Amino acid sequence: MTVDLSVKIGKLILKNPVMPASGCFGYGEEYARFFNLSRLGAIVVKGTTMRPRPGNKPPRIAETPAGILNAIGLQNPGAEEARLRIGQLAGYGIPVIVNVAGNSKEEYLQVIQTLEKEEAASAYEINVSCPNIKAGGLSFGTDPGVIYELVSLLRAATKKTLIVKLSPNVTDITPLARAAEDAGADALSLINTLVGTAIDIQKRRPLLGNVTGGLSGPAVKPVALHFVWQVSDAVKLPVIGMGGISSAEDAVEFLLAGASAVAIGTANFVNPLVCPEVIDGIAAYLQENNFNSVGEIIGLAKKGKAG
Ligand SMILES: Cc1cc2nc3c(=O)[nH]c(=O)nc-3n(C[C@H](O)[C@H](O)[C@H](O)COP(=O)(O)O)c2cc1C
Repeated sequence: MTVDLSVKIGKLILKNPVMPASGCFGYGEEYARFFNLSRLGAIVVKGTTMRPRPGNKPPRIAETPAGILNAIGLQNPGAEEARLRIGQLAGYGIPVIVNVAGNSKEEYLQVIQTLEKEEAASAYEINVSCPNIKAGGLSFGTDPGVIYELVSLLRAATKKTLIVKLSPNVTDITPLARAAEDAGADALSLINTLVGTAIDIQKRRPLLGNVTGGLSGPAVKPVALHFVWQVSDAVKLPVIGMGGISSAEDAVEFLLAGASAVAIGTANFVNPLVCPEVIDGIAAYLQENNFNSVGEIIGLAKKGKAG
């Protein structure tokens, strides 16, 4: 028996619900040596700003007992160069989701305007987890009013699928999710990394050049699952769940908690084959448990019918 793994995210039909998370897969070049990227549900590329960014000073990664802290600082080649690299992914025949970042609303808009012309760019994932913005020193990710304004502006600029990536570094995520929905987002993705730091006790200095970084990997999974559960209850939009997924079982947890698709970040650094393994593992889980389609298990843990 074959199972239907396809899911709908905005205007995108993904043939399966698995994609790499932004910033953990580059433009796929290194991973293409390990498996055929056309197996993925979608590919998500690095956060793209208007101009190239060299990123933060090193060290940029610190290992933690169950994950990593990263402070890459949005290193990327800039929107024009990103457009060329995205174009090269067209041959894989899968949607390319471009993660978009900026220091101002105008910069997000400019990035989208630059990429609108690129047919291979199927959707945008708006990273509203950047700490700084011109507007009154408010952070994009923590103010529902700022999210509403930003997403409204971008919505007017594109008909492509608009996904808003939410920050977990807030007390209550639901007003932020609703602001994105009200402004016309097609989907939400969560979570981005959790703010953290680490100290080198020999040097008696912060381990990261940037002092603070973002925690990802298995350590954040329960937090991510909680947010996915909460947000998928609060809005009607499909949710792409991520945070600590490193196996099919982890991915199934996110689907059962209400995610319509999943993204895998840090685990790619440990196992470059994790994405295809998770795709196969989800299919096996569905078959073993007599489900015909992945859609049947989305949010099922909330419905009290899981046994
Ligand atoms: C090295 C690194 C770079 C990242 N770069 C980005 C980025 O450019 N844009 C973004 O929205 N998220 C970025 N993230 C966050 C991931 O996409 C993901 O949301 C987070 O790591 C949680 O998933 P994980 O635990 O599977 O890694 C980055 C994460 C890591 C570890």
